[in-house]
Amino acid sequence: MTKLTPVLSKNWNDADSFTIANYKKHGGYKALPKALSQTPDEVIALIKESGLRGRGGAGFPTGSKWGFIPQGDNKAHYLVVNADESEPGTCKDMPLLLANPHSLVEGIIIGSYAIRANHAFIYIRGEVVHVVRRLQQAIDDAYAAGLLGKNILNSGFDLEVTLHAGAGAYICGEETALLDSLEGFRGQPRLRPPFPAIAGLYAMPTVVNNVESIASVPAIIDNGNEWFQAMGTEKSKGFTLYSLSGHVSNPGQFEAPLGITLREILELSGGMRPGHQLKFWTPGGSSTPIFTAEHLDVPLDYEAVSAAGSMLGTKALQVFDETTCVVRAALRWSEFYKHESCGKCTPCREGTWWLVQMLEDLEAGRGTEADLDKLLDLCDNIAGRSFCALADGAVAPIISTLKYFRSEYILHQTNGGCPFDPIASTLFETAGA
Ligand SMILES: Cc1cc2nc3c(=O)[nH]c(=O)nc-3n(C[C@H](O)[C@H](O)[C@H](O)COP(=O)(O)O)c2cc1C
Ligand code: SF4
Repeated sequence: MTKLTPVLSKNWNDADSFTIANYKKHGGYKALPKALSQTPDEVIALIKESGLRGRGGAGFPTGSKWGFIPQGDNKAHYLVVNADESEPGTCKDMPLLLANPHSLVEGIIIGSYAIRANHAFIYIRGEVVHVVRRLQQAIDDAYAAGLLGKNILNSGFDLEVTLHAGAGAYICGEETALLDSLEGFRGQPRLRPPFPAIAGLYAMPTVVNNVESIASVPAIIDNGNEWFQAMGTEKSKGFTLYSLSGHVSNPGQFEAPLGITLREILELSGGMRPGHQLKFWTPGGSSTPIFTAEHLDVPLDYEAVSAAGSMLGTKALQVFDETTCVVRAALRWSEFYKHESCGKCTPCREGTWWLVQMLEDLEAGRGTEADLDKLLDLCDNIAGRSFCALADGAVAPIISTLKYFRSEYILHQTNGGCPFDPIASTLFETAGA
């Protein structure tokens, strides 16, 4: 069986895991001089060769993204770290920042050096005040230790890091909405091209990377590509954080090689809660189509999950057992997307509203079978016809729950209400319907 491979989470059980002293005690900030002794191009080539892919959802190769930044253009370059983490089920970056913030700070210095940026920004969701404080402390400690600021480790490289707390909007995790929000505008996605690598923050060449992507960089530099590539699968290399939540015995972060299966993670973590069976799950948060028990052995890497009809996304494994109404779950997720739609384009702004209306009726047993086709038609008019990927994510739970559990939708109609809700059923029977 595949084993866990704790790297970023290795010392999380230490009481002072978040301090600079503890990070250094375990070999932290050792990768930095190694990186600074190479040229920026060499660092980019190394990360390219490692096969590291972005951990923020899309799995884009990190080294290639860094390589898109024009060199020698005499413009300011920026590294922006995406710490917005607002997708339902996704909860890896915040624990990582709480327990091991210096892995991100060290990764930021190396990444900024590679793309020739002298200013990096971290955009963090503002509600997580305790994480903001902890990360700010880590940044302050890195400045005090001479690891940030002017002439870092006598290398001649200067770097300022600014931590910016957003106001809590899911859309501000979308990289171009994030850049607008960081510039002080309302957070709404930008039209592309130009891509951020050409005109990003303040119209300058910018790399936007997820927290986990950047935090993984020091371990790769320190241990080498062979070590990193020994973990994972052919095209999805390395270790990553899987966030297990829901109806399981032991929810939490499980750091494992890409390609581990949910069956293995459940075995390693203690399984479903006692006496219950798996009904459905998300491989990568609420915007990835659901899986069922038949997908327990799908390798959790980018290729295999996509071949099985979903997306690895943020590797947020939300697990639901047989007590969960799938229609209600789809409704709850849809309410989230309706609330978070930024309103810029009509299919998403209006469509998510209609999705919620229809799902409310279906869940309450007021829908008809024809409504299911109408629902799918509506999804078809939203996905791929909206301005950004939020809308595609909004329809994923609906299309996939209908694919696997159409009969449960119909059962709501024949039952005259939600069959999972004893109170609603009783009321319905009392009313003589
Ligand atoms: C609606 C929406 C929300 C997103 N939220 C996040 C987020 O919270 N964190 C994140 O890293 N990426 C998020 N992304 C993906 C980013 O746009 C971007 O692809 C990512 O930050 C790139 O980093 P990576 O290459 O290191 O994965 C979101 C995308 C969309 C469409
Ligand atoms: S798809 Fe939704 S979130 Fe994205 S731009 Fe359009 S309205 Fe905004």
